[in-house]
Amino acid sequence: FIHIKKLYQDMDSYNEQSVTICGWIRSLRDSKSFGFISINDGTYFQPVQVVFDNTLENFDTIRKLNIGSALIIKGNVLVTPNARQPFEIHAESITIEGTSTPDYPLQKKRHSFEYLRTIPHLRPRTNTFQAVFRVRSLIAYAIHQFFQERDFVYVHTPIITGSDCEGAGEMFQVTTLDLANIEKSPNEKVNYKKDFFGKEVNLTVSGQLNGETYAMAFQNIYTFGPTFRAENSNTSRHAAEFWMIEPEMAFADLNDDMQVAEDMLKYIISYVMEHAKEELTFFNQHIDTGLIERLEHVLHSEFGHITYTEAIKILEKNNDAFQYKVHWGSDLQTEHERYLTEEIFKRPVFVTDYPKEIKAFYMKLNPDQKTVAAMDCLVPGIGEIIGGSQREDDYDLLLARMKETGLSLDDYAFYTDLRKYGSARHAGFGLGFERCVMYLTGMSNIRDVLPFPRTVGNCTL
Ligand code: 4AD
Ligand code: MG
Repeated sequence: FIHIKKLYQDMDSYNEQSVTICGWIRSLRDSKSFGFISINDGTYFQPVQVVFDNTLENFDTIRKLNIGSALIIKGNVLVTPNARQPFEIHAESITIEGTSTPDYPLQKKRHSFEYLRTIPHLRPRTNTFQAVFRVRSLIAYAIHQFFQERDFVYVHTPIITGSDCEGAGEMFQVTTLDLANIEKSPNEKVNYKKDFFGKEVNLTVSGQLNGETYAMAFQNIYTFGPTFRAENSNTSRHAAEFWMIEPEMAFADLNDDMQVAEDMLKYIISYVMEHAKEELTFFNQHIDTGLIERLEHVLHSEFGHITYTEAIKILEKNNDAFQYKVHWGSDLQTEHERYLTEEIFKRPVFVTDYPKEIKAFYMKLNPDQKTVAAMDCLVPGIGEIIGGSQREDDYDLLLARMKETGLSLDDYAFYTDLRKYGSARHAGFGLGFERCVMYLTGMSNIRDVLPFPRTVGNCTL
């Protein structure tokens, strides 16, 4: 079968040629002697118009087909420079692969994103979701390419873990119901949380700690996998299951870290602008006017830099307008992040050197003893897209910090070992993959960039 994408790309060379395509009916109009089928084959988010007439032996069956039916069509391509669609196909034969019933939920009208969320198994058949998930796939590819070109080793960190990297206690616990393999004496009670692994375990909130161990062997590594957070925040940018990319670099400091983050985001943007032009044009027209201009602007500007302390000074002046008032020591909320990047910088910005109390235990203490070598990258429309830091590489300081935050030194012995055996300065960050997809498509809800979103109260399919 010729892919519809190929027809769009090389339509002139297919003009007046016979082709065979396959796909699903998006819409069908007919009259007594002829009809039009709009057909999509999944290779391109725009459908193709097929013209058919009563010279087809199964004309009467075809004209009564429901939307959603699967067809194989052989026909002649005709470039139509003056029509609404750039070309059409005049059917010589149409074979029915599978019919559809009249209750097919995707009729030829605009459905709201809210409605489409209730049918996550069917929404990838719409133009918007075809574009979103194709771009999502391209971004994943671009990220691998970016790191592989720079000799980073892709490490698969575990999903089931005993540690809580971010120390926020937002973990989903892993238990087992089938304990057939675990022998217990009759009077010993089964502990569903502990018995399989011999301790309590959870789904990972971040692959960073495992990633650091490999960075101490390979120098530069990255992870790319699912992470899980039981955050009870029902917002348009939090999911309970999301994907994260976490590079970790030995012999690198916070500035190196920010440079890699900026280069990576720019690389992804150029890649998508080059490989998904039509999708971006579609988003720019239907989802977020100004998207392309904004992305181009990012490519041609340096990211902003500001310390947390400076940022707080700016934000305090605007406290009246915020729902949450800030002062030195407060964590930044989305409204503050967006104010900084949208109103003050009008481009992506790194906020650095946060108070140690609001950041994770592993971040390197700054000489002022109050702040840590942390960076968050904020982007317009979203807020935080990346969180990273230079890591504490001093054995004694790390131990002291772990004691302060109440971490078990035994559980994290593997982690402190790294500071005993050839400790090297190192840094890394985590890019929220879905937030990155939102940033590049203009989609405003994380539920619409995850194929099967899991959020508070929602785990359909
Ligand atoms: O800032 P976070 O919590 O950083 C870490 O997990 C570090 N261990 C990363 C590292 O240094 N290796 O998370 C990183 C990014 C955030 O900036 C955000 O984009 C995304 O992950 N993120 C979420 N995305 C969707 N839903 C959630 N609940 C998210 N929580 C974090
Ligand atoms: Mg963060």
